[in-house]
Amino acid sequence: MKLCVIGTGYVGLVDGTCFAETGNTVVCVDTDKTKIDALLSGQIPIYEPGLETLVKKNVEKKRLSFSTAVQAAVQNADICFISVGTPPGEDGSADLQYVLAAAKAIGESLNGYKVIVDKSTVPVGTADKVKKVIAAETKQAFDVVSNPEFLKEGAAIEDFLKPDRIVIGTDSERAFKVMETLYAPFVRTGAPIIRMSTRSAELTKYAANAMLATRISFMNDLANLCELVGADIDMVRQGLGSDPRVGKRFLFPGIGYGGSCFPKDVKAIIRTAQDNGYTLELLQAVENVNEKQKQVLAAKIKKHFGSLSGRKFAVWGLSFKPQTDDMREAPAIVIIEELLKSGAQVSAHDPEALREAKKIFGARIDYQTDNYAALDKADALLILTEWSEYREPDFARIKSLLKTPVIFDGRNIFNPALMKEQGFKYYAIGRQE
Ligand code: NAD
Ligand code: UGA
Repeated sequence: MKLCVIGTGYVGLVDGTCFAETGNTVVCVDTDKTKIDALLSGQIPIYEPGLETLVKKNVEKKRLSFSTAVQAAVQNADICFISVGTPPGEDGSADLQYVLAAAKAIGESLNGYKVIVDKSTVPVGTADKVKKVIAAETKQAFDVVSNPEFLKEGAAIEDFLKPDRIVIGTDSERAFKVMETLYAPFVRTGAPIIRMSTRSAELTKYAANAMLATRISFMNDLANLCELVGADIDMVRQGLGSDPRVGKRFLFPGIGYGGSCFPKDVKAIIRTAQDNGYTLELLQAVENVNEKQKQVLAAKIKKHFGSLSGRKFAVWGLSFKPQTDDMREAPAIVIIEELLKSGAQVSAHDPEALREAKKIFGARIDYQTDNYAALDKADALLILTEWSEYREPDFARIKSLLKTPVIFDGRNIFNPALMKEQGFKYYAIGRQE
């Protein structure tokens, strides 16, 4: 099939590439000319494991191309995906301006029946809005389908090629058949295609992210209690997660969830409820716990050192999670800003996110491409992202470089007993010092 993907960000680029991988011809379109020019010259604008190789392969096979010309891409396609951003507006609702602009561009270009797919995460009722906007521009037949994306950054290709499920929201048999054919190669392993209305599909996406965010806030809240009552959250996590009704995954406490999705999607679903005269009390608490959790590590640092003025802190890890260069809503931003506000200096390392971090902190912090270099004469080491390469460091070297052997671990990657043995004062999340 011929596909047009409007919005070549994390989702558009990964989805477009994976659809090309299964033999479709895909044109990825973006209004950002710099991004398209970079892709045309073989540069991948984001760090996502495996993506560069897959893009290169499919470009060479002439199944994948990039363009800023939306009209031609739409006109040549059987299916048009809308995968533009839906950032939070001031009131927490999802800002639909990019989705509706893409819909308008599709409407203006339509030259025959096509399936239009809302891939972006959008509030309930958006498919109806998209339909209206397109219909205002054309007399051609089309269907709007809601097909939310469940991939996570850092494992995006694996998630997309081997999904747990495909959700397709549509009341059109014709559109459903097209989508079923498109996804056939991805569900061979047994993952279901779950068909529902566009409204249920739109809400399913928010429900999924809100549930995952709830698990994290629950564990963060519990971790704080563990510290007060002499328990260890890591033990509690294992004991709790071994019940298959709970499950082991997504129970890791830390410095709060970040990223471009959980924070904005929790806000957006709360807003949707408010707009419909309902209060999602549980999710409001999930959000409050998350805001508080981002302050927990800085509070421990202040308690240990008293005044932070003139102190230097080494930071390992800046991205909102490992295996990505994405800094959107990274808890590291909140923690570093707090340290800077208190008069401290920061020297930071991240395997992939330094470029993104520079856009946020500029010259206000120091950047190191070698993680040990960040430690030089620092008062303490802070672990803010659990990159694999930080998990088994040379502790003797850390100790010799730091002014004082103190580690604040926001991701619980080290064993407290081992840290004691190595002579470190070790602070983690929900564990005994
Ligand atoms: P992104 O910001 O990385 O990319 C969006 C792209 O759309 C940008 O390159 C932008 O220039 C482009 N764009 C904006 N308006 C356009 C227009 N009118 N025409 C063409 N291009 C346009 O965003 P993302 O992270 O890929 O997220 C996209 C959507 O997918 C969001 O709704 C997000 O919630 C959802 N989502 C994201 C992830 C993720 O892991 N990032 C996972 C699942 C769902
Ligand atoms: C999340 C979902 O996992 C995807 O299924 C979804 O498609 C995506 O949002 C989206 O809608 O965009 P992502 O934001 O890429 O994916 O990353 P996650 O792995 O979910 O992590 C989100 C945040 O939660 C990170 O800051 C991470 O450190 C934190 N987290 C995650 C924890 O604190 N504990 C955990 O146990 C898991």
